Amino acid sequence: MQDPAVEQLLPYLQRPGRDAAGNGSRLWIADENTLHGLSAVTAAHDIALITNRFDVAQRARELGFATQFSDFSFSTLEADSIQTAVYRVSKEKPVVHHIINEARRFLAPGGELVLAGLKNEGIKTYIDKAKQLFGNGVARKVGNVYTGNLVKRDCARTSAALDDKNYAQLRLIRTSQLDFYSKPGLFGWDKVDQGSAFLVERLPGIISAAPGPPASLLDLGCGYGYLSIMTRDMPLERRTATDNNAAALLAMQENANHYAMQVEVVADDCAGGVAPDFDLILCNPPFHQGFSVDAQLTDKFLRQTSRLLAAQGMAVFVVNQFIPLERAAEKYFKRIEIAARNKSFKLIRLALR
Ligand SMILES: C[S@@+](CC[C@H](N)C(=O)[O-])C[C@H]1O[C@@H](n2cnc3c(N)ncnc32)[C@H](O)[C@@H]1O
Repeated sequence: MQDPAVEQLLPYLQRPGRDAAGNGSRLWIADENTLHGLSAVTAAHDIALITNRFDVAQRARELGFATQFSDFSFSTLEADSIQTAVYRVSKEKPVVHHIINEARRFLAPGGELVLAGLKNEGIKTYIDKAKQLFGNGVARKVGNVYTGNLVKRDCARTSAALDDKNYAQLRLIRTSQLDFYSKPGLFGWDKVDQGSAFLVERLPGIISAAPGPPASLLDLGCGYGYLSIMTRDMPLERRTATDNNAAALLAMQENANHYAMQVEVVADDCAGGVAPDFDLILCNPPFHQGFSVDAQLTDKFLRQTSRLLAAQGMAVFVVNQFIPLERAAEKYFKRIEIAARNKSFKLIRLALR
């Protein structure tokens, strides 16, 4: 379904650019909300797209956009080089502040930043802050979407940057269970997820039921890499970790280095390009927002898991008690068992035979 905030930004990309020489270049700053908006715009030589989501990058490339997949690193953009940047604000404040600060650097004098977001996402505050930074700005409201148009004037060069909590840097998080590198914008970025902790606690018992110890591991949707790191004492010969989010992959790699682990870190949409066979697949899937479950994404994770699992292998998923994963898994797996449960979570063991 089309995101209403993205919809407000599309006209800036659908209209023709300023001139045929590529002057008036436009930048589309796209996060996960943008996926369904991509096909509404025709790729043009003066539109570049930057995204921190692999699936968005993949689709944008298919559609012919000049695309950069990165954790919103704008280092390849020269100062004063972009005429129009459009950005549907992200969930995390440090990410939004980072992007507004960077836009001030890469926009040409007289260039415009167009922001959009929903009322309950703090968009009004972001527009106000951007107004202070740019020294001007206009806000508009359509339904529950606010848009802000900020034009870069000379005074924008000297105003104090918004506090982005040093977004670009990974930082060391110390918890009672584990020290790890992470950053805002990642799932549960500064804590250990209770569901994942439950999986790790019960994993030795669950894999002891297998005919032999696993030699290869896939951490599907690895985030900063908690599940991979927690296998560091297992005698695995091969570890692969994959995620859709650029920041997650940076953190995963940093944690592998920190713990001196060999992990192949792969940017991918649901491991679509990863080759089988894995003896063990671990996953804390991103299926639900509150109580609503994304059935399509559930199916995609299960389908890929069945493709990637070795014939004798085992996958272990942790999900909230209310998620009917067992039913959705019947299509792909012969053996489906609840291996453990507590008040909040259940661990589902999946095997092909
Ligand atoms: C609930 S988090 C689990 C993170 C980590 N494995 C843990 O246990 O803490 C789900 C992860 O899936 C990732 N994810 C979401 N959609 C994805 C996709 N299409 N392909 C790969 N990973 C995805 C998210 O970026 C997030 O890191």
